[in-house]
Amino acid sequence: MKTIEWIGDSSGHLRLLDQTGLPLKASFIDCKTTKELFDAIRRLSVRGAPAIGVSAAYGVLLGLRDLSGEDRSQFDATFFEVADYLAESRPTAVNLFWALERLKKLVRRESGLSPAEMRDRLLEEAKAIDAEDQEMCAAMGRFGAELIPEGAGILTHCNTGSLATAGDGTALAVIFAAHDQGKNIHVYVDETRPLLQGARLTAWELMQRKVPSTLICDSMAAWVMKQGMVQAVITGADRIAANGDAANKIGTYGLSVLAQAHGIPFYVVAPSSTFDFDITTGEEIPIEQRDGKEITTAFGKQTAPDHVKTYNPAFDVAPADRITALVTERGVIQPVTKENIETVLG
Ligand code: MRU
Repeated sequence: MKTIEWIGDSSGHLRLLDQTGLPLKASFIDCKTTKELFDAIRRLSVRGAPAIGVSAAYGVLLGLRDLSGEDRSQFDATFFEVADYLAESRPTAVNLFWALERLKKLVRRESGLSPAEMRDRLLEEAKAIDAEDQEMCAAMGRFGAELIPEGAGILTHCNTGSLATAGDGTALAVIFAAHDQGKNIHVYVDETRPLLQGARLTAWELMQRKVPSTLICDSMAAWVMKQGMVQAVITGADRIAANGDAANKIGTYGLSVLAQAHGIPFYVVAPSSTFDFDITTGEEIPIEQRDGKEITTAFGKQTAPDHVKTYNPAFDVAPADRITALVTERGVIQPVTKENIETVLG
């Protein structure tokens, strides 16, 4: 089952596995307009930093498919408008902006191509971004698996698997690789309130791959650590600043504090496309604020009084000094310092 698939030639469309229905219903959405994709990203039908980047890369083609004529300047104007529109869909995961920026550079560079040729070239580039993401997932899995001891209990948060990327995942790729190597691991899955990406998606992915796992409420993480059931905490990231501060699903900061308090290594797994070298620290990472209804009526049932005040940041930032190592497709960065990040990522 593919999470993201481009159907047809450069005038084709984007097929997404609708993650809002999982784990009960696996259905697909065919996005034929940029608005349909924008809405799908916003309501988390497609989600996870790398998956958002890959979808947006294909997504620009949706805004160009009805353009006829040979006028390249009109083509470019529409392209930049579509790219800027998609960039508004979600603010935190930098992979979205990274993918769109890569396409913008391509359009500027290939100014001699006709609109039809440029469309084909954009599809080629989106497919390259998709394929590279798959390779990066495999490489992160290989590097990260080295860090996992035999018999480890591993705690993870949110969903970082094949639903969140074009490949096997980031943090989950490490878990899958360690499991495939025959390591006898057990994964504790935070349910990940308010939208339950852990319960709905990660538990489902781990069960599909037959990785031993146990679902816990987020509030149980400290106690599970205290009881010695966890030897490593592994999460993904949505944006990593130049100094290594890493934004990820709300609750990740708390886990980094808990891991340090219990002397447990805390690993963040992310491809180079998740690093934002334009910002020096996590303070500058924009944190998405989402509708309070996700807290009060998450899945259709009201669970709080009418008119209650809510605060619903979708992400938080784990500071670099609480991260034991960053696992990237180019290697492991440990200790996490600006200098070491530059050395590994260049
Ligand atoms: O709001 P979401 O579901 O898009 O949040 C996703 C996460 O926080 C993941 O942990 C992150 O994107 C890294 S995944 C490869």
